[in-house]
Amino acid sequence: MRNDFSLMIHGGAGALDNVKDERIAVRYLESIRVILEYGRDALSRGATAVEAVETCASLLEDDPLFNAGCGSVLNENGKVEMDAGIMDGRDLSAGAVAAIGNIANPVQLARLVMDGSEHVLLIGEGALHFAQHCGMELTPDHYFFTPDRIRQLDEARLRGRIMLDHDADGDAQKYGTIGAVARDSNGDLAAATSTGGIVNKRMGRVGDSPIIGAGVYADNETCAVSATGYGEEFMRTVFAKTIADAVEFRDADARDAVDFGIGYLRRKVNGRGGAICIDRHGNCASGMTTPKMIHGWIEHGGESFCRF
Ligand code: GLY
Repeated sequence: MRNDFSLMIHGGAGALDNVKDERIAVRYLESIRVILEYGRDALSRGATAVEAVETCASLLEDDPLFNAGCGSVLNENGKVEMDAGIMDGRDLSAGAVAAIGNIANPVQLARLVMDGSEHVLLIGEGALHFAQHCGMELTPDHYFFTPDRIRQLDEARLRGRIMLDHDADGDAQKYGTIGAVARDSNGDLAAATSTGGIVNKRMGRVGDSPIIGAGVYADNETCAVSATGYGEEFMRTVFAKTIADAVEFRDADARDAVDFGIGYLRRKVNGRGGAICIDRHGNCASGMTTPKMIHGWIEHGGESFCRF
């Protein structure tokens, strides 16, 4: 067994008013806890950081509670268009997909782009073509159409505007995205982020999650970062790379780097969201500008913690 690993996962940020209902809060925390323990098991058996973040992100995509994979929100045409990215801190290799439907686990397709193509980002029809070329099965539309997501889109259409995930009262309540960062026992870092984006978003809109340096970043010499928030603000501030640059150029640890990134996000664009980060020494840190962020962590193989 190998125990000097660290792992963090998140399931979205926002006001999260729905977690005032204790039953919903328990469901979120239980899902995060179970997935963290799954990741612990994999890492302690020698899984690489890349394998761990892909596994944890896939499990989050499989849980309809979260806005990714089967729980993805619907766009203005009532369709799912998902984004995902993954990065390997060993050599800065990266893969991403954007504006795709019919893929149960977009993070797995992003991994195939990273490992099996000479490209970093594939979108839409081309990404699906690549998926089939790699032998990945397409998933029928009905898999993604949960009753909650259909009702949420109907509400957004009634209001005639974009909504940001579970947004019952008209204010931006939750910026749904899922993500994972890991440092394995060899000291290698990786990050993955996946999302359905924003309710009632324009067809073809791409957020920060598949943009390397915005919603996802990993470099063994600095840190691994996964972000969750209002994607346009994270792209404009190159948010994940800003956090990594704080490690590289200010000699920050994970805590100081996240604080620096959150401060920059707030100051520059009054950005909404948060991030999880593991630095090259395995220290874990999180931060957000929103009232809450669903996340959990295991630092240096210790106890697991889950928080809003
Ligand atoms: N952060 C997810 C998005 O804006 O699409």
